[in-house]
Parts: sequence; structure tokens; C-alpha cells
Amino acid sequence: MEKLVPNWYSAAQPLPETYIFPPDARPGKFSVAPSISNDIPVIDLGSQSHDRALVIQQILEASQEFGFFQVINHGIPEALMNDTMDVFKEFFELPLEEKRASIYSDDPNKVCKLVHSSVNYDWEEVHLWRDFLRHPCEPLEKFMPIWPRKPIKYREHVSKCFTQVKKVALDILELIGEGLGIGSEYFNDELSKETDIFVNHYPPCPDPSLTLGITKHSDPQLITILLQGDVSGLQVLKDGEWIGVEPISNGLVVNIGYQLRIISNGKLKCAEHRVVTNSSTVRTTIGFFITPSPDCYIEPAAALIHASNPRLYKGFRYEEFRANYFRKQGKTEVVLEPFKIES
Ligand code: OGA
Ligand code: NI
Repeated sequence: MEKLVPNWYSAAQPLPETYIFPPDARPGKFSVAPSISNDIPVIDLGSQSHDRALVIQQILEASQEFGFFQVINHGIPEALMNDTMDVFKEFFELPLEEKRASIYSDDPNKVCKLVHSSVNYDWEEVHLWRDFLRHPCEPLEKFMPIWPRKPIKYREHVSKCFTQVKKVALDILELIGEGLGIGSEYFNDELSKETDIFVNHYPPCPDPSLTLGITKHSDPQLITILLQGDVSGLQVLKDGEWIGVEPISNGLVVNIGYQLRIISNGKLKCAEHRVVTNSSTVRTTIGFFITPSPDCYIEPAAALIHASNPRLYKGFRYEEFRANYFRKQGKTEVVLEPFKIES
């Protein structure tokens, strides 16, 4: 059984032992992002209109080097991003019983979930310093009726924001398809058919050096678009160092998932990342995970495979990958093992 979210604020002092990671997994002094944190590229999507080739090049370079970038001038109104963030903050501020009541539905698969730490709560060794709310978005007519009923504006703001984020995601995927030379429509239809929202809520933590909001992982889907508000905490592993993805005003964080790594035959990087907590401010982040349909067949794009770039991964149905990802609890290279072609 999943653990329901406990009452954070009475349980918070001092950090309970069940949240303390072993020394080699603790953020320690890196619980504060180191000073080289401005390295993650910021790409102006608005400049596409006069120099599309440059934007494509910037996205490809960032995806190869970091697996992460941020975009500005993406066309989503700032007011809508703020309204959406506010509605999630309000959701998490509701008393526990109201939160539960708000997501109660007849949905037999319980795809709208409020979870503390992770879905592995009962068998994970250390718990994470977070709650999250997740639910599918598409098709809206099917899933909106099982979304939270409170706050009252939830469905209105979240559906509008999702629609706009999806447009930006498809725009970026088009640019990536073009940049890889596999065609701007490569990622349409089944490969980007579904979108799941994950909203993370990280309360202030008594000792951020000992615990994590999310442990090191790469995202299993195709691509992720994250609204991280104005509180930092996201870190990306690059050449053995953790670098911070610092919030920028009205920006969106974009990161490459495993499926893009595989389709690009390893050219694009699905970087490992994690979340550190802080002791003063609640942090709320909204992840939109663009996901293939369960039956979608994934394999390296044929146009990229040639004698000097041999195929690295076998083909599989997305559902097989997903099941394996959760069995291996997201350990990056271990997750890929069954799908690698031995050279
Ligand atoms: C995730 C994730 C980052 C954040 O949900 O997979 O990496 O800053 N979130 O919340
Ligand atoms: Ni992630």
C-alpha cells in the first residue's frame, strides 16, 4: 500500500533518521549548488523566426553536452504559468483530508495519485523529502474528470497550461528531429502521444546536507518540460560534478529522457539529475513528461545508423522499458542494460 502524505510540519524537527541517506549519496556541501551553476544553456525560442538554424544548433549542442537546457520566449503567458503554479501551491497547502477528498474519484486504476516520498515507500531504504501529485493529461476529455476538484480553478488553469506546454514540447521535438536529420515529424503521433503531470512539493527541510528531494535518476520518457518556479534545488551530473539549474524568470527547463537517447542512438544525453532541499522555503515544481504510448515501438532512427555509427540499442515496446525502469528503480546504466546491443 502506498503511504499517504503525513503531516509535514509537525514531523519536521529534527530530520527523522528514515530520511538520512548513506554518506556517499548525501549532498553534503553540494546541497547548495556550486558556483559553476550558470553553465546550463538558456535558449531563446523566439529567435527561431529570424534564425531557426541557430536555435536548432543550440538545442542539439545543449542536448549532447548537458542533456538539459532552459528556454525563454516560448510563448506561454507569464500569467498562466503563475496561475498554474499558484493553484498547485494552494493544493499542497490544503489540509490532508481535503487534499485526499479533492482527488477522490471512481477511477479504477487510480491514475491520479498523491504520494509521499515515492511509490516504493514500503520497500525503499531511505525516504525522500517530498510529496508529489501525478496524473495523466491526455486526452483531456477522458482525464480531466479525475483531476483534483480543489482548488476550484485547478482544472481550468492546469488544462490551459498543459495545452500550451505540449505545443512548446512538440515545437522543440520538431527542432530536434530536424537537427538530428531524421525529419521534423519524427516525434509526432505515438512517440509523443501522452503527457503525465508530476507536481513535486518539497517542504523546508531541517538538514538539506543529509537528505534529498529526489535521488539521482534520468527520466524514463521522451522529453520533460519543467516549471521550477523561483526556488533552486535541481542539479545535473556533468563530468562527475553536480551543477545547479538555476531558476530564470519565466523560463522552462527541458531535459532529454531515455527514449530520446535511444532514438538518437546515443547522440543525445539523458543526463542524471537529482533534487536537493533547502531549510527555508517550500519548493514546488511542475513536470510535464511527454511519453510514448505503451505499445509504441522504440528503436534507434534508421537514418542515423551506418558503418561508422553502429546501432547501440535493440527495439522494444515502450511498456517493456517502463516496467524494467521501475524494477531497476531508475539506476541509469542498469536500466539500459537489457536493451543494449553488445559490440
Ligand atoms: C522529476 C525531476 C526535478 C525538480 O520529477 O523527475 O527530476 O526540480 N524533478 O523537481
Ligand atoms: Ni527527473
